[in-house]
Amino acid sequence: RPAIGVAVLGMGNVGAEVVRILEENADDLRARVGAPLEIRGVAVRDLSKPRKIDSALLTTDAAALVARDDVDIVVELVGGIDPARELIRTALTGGKSVVSANKALLADYTGELAGAAADAKVDLYFEAAVAGAIPVIRPLMQSLAGDKVERVAGIVNGTTNFILSAMDETGAGYDETLAEAGRLGYAEADPTADVGGYDAAAKAAILASIAFHTRVTAADVYREGITEVTADDLAAAKKFDCTVKLLAICERVVGDGGERVSARVYPALVPLSHPLASVNGAFNAVVVEAENAGRLMFYGQGAGGAPTASAVMGDLVMAARNKVHGGRGPLESTYAELPVASIDDV
Ligand code: NDP
Ligand code: HSE
Repeated sequence: RPAIGVAVLGMGNVGAEVVRILEENADDLRARVGAPLEIRGVAVRDLSKPRKIDSALLTTDAAALVARDDVDIVVELVGGIDPARELIRTALTGGKSVVSANKALLADYTGELAGAAADAKVDLYFEAAVAGAIPVIRPLMQSLAGDKVERVAGIVNGTTNFILSAMDETGAGYDETLAEAGRLGYAEADPTADVGGYDAAAKAAILASIAFHTRVTAADVYREGITEVTADDLAAAKKFDCTVKLLAICERVVGDGGERVSARVYPALVPLSHPLASVNGAFNAVVVEAENAGRLMFYGQGAGGAPTASAVMGDLVMAARNKVHGGRGPLESTYAELPVASIDDV
């Protein structure tokens, strides 16, 4: 079968691992997809940085790479809104499937981009956008599609969990631990997104939209970060047999106005007996409660290059199989437009 051409946009923490896996596991991937996956090019900003790749594949012109006729799938790993949004739109309208880990973008533009994907009959996958390696988007979108999800809650930001765990366990300082999270590839390019709770709010918006078949954007999510949490707070929590975790909570709430969706992110006291209390370091965990399934818990590495690349590669293999076999994967379901509750309603 002819090769599937792949354009990788971005070769940072995640993109470098995706390129490594594509090159190291080429034979296995060919067998799983039914055709070879060939890297047509990798877009970066700075060509002078040392990278583990044939330099002939590198380009700073991401738009030209996306437009190439021999590119079938675009893997967007540059982050941010611009130019990622336009690059993805161009890819989709040009009949290319897209895999992205860009939660900041997807939180606000999934509707627009999924519409473009549906019109062009191509795939838009973003498992890596929430909770790194942990499969949570696909279970919500597929496995639980016939159930009624009541609540999705958990720890969805690795950087803040890494910081809070270190402060709690070893008394490490906030600033030094944040710097370490950056070195380990957990933190965003601008770590304000992590510590300010914006990254978790974007993930909460994505989770709530999928779980409740409605549209929730990052601005709809009540948000507090961890910048105000001190070592004294953690010590005080311990006295009550609790710890402090940055939680994202998305749930159906029923009030006078009928059923609504609440999505909120804030540092919370978690009893040490609760399973989320023992989720430490850059690990994440998401607890889903559904009417018929009951309680499900998803746990694993929530940040970092290789774990995130694992989720990206899963999406890439699915999109490539669809290219080979002429299928198309699941996308967002019909929206019920459930209204969003304000924090005062909860
Ligand atoms: P990095 O900042 O490490 O890498 C970004 C890459 O994009 C760099 O290679 C950079 O080039 C390139 N880039 C940026 N702007 C452009 C542009 N305009 N044109 C071409 N290339 C560009 O980010 P990460 O790899 O950590 O994250 C990538 C995405 O994955 C983000 O959306 C992030 O939110 C998401 N994500 C990250 C996780 C993580 O643990 N790191 C986990 C889950 C999702 P150069 O190298 O030249 O600077
Ligand atoms: N900066 C993010 C985090 C990366 O720390 O969770 C994973 O989405």
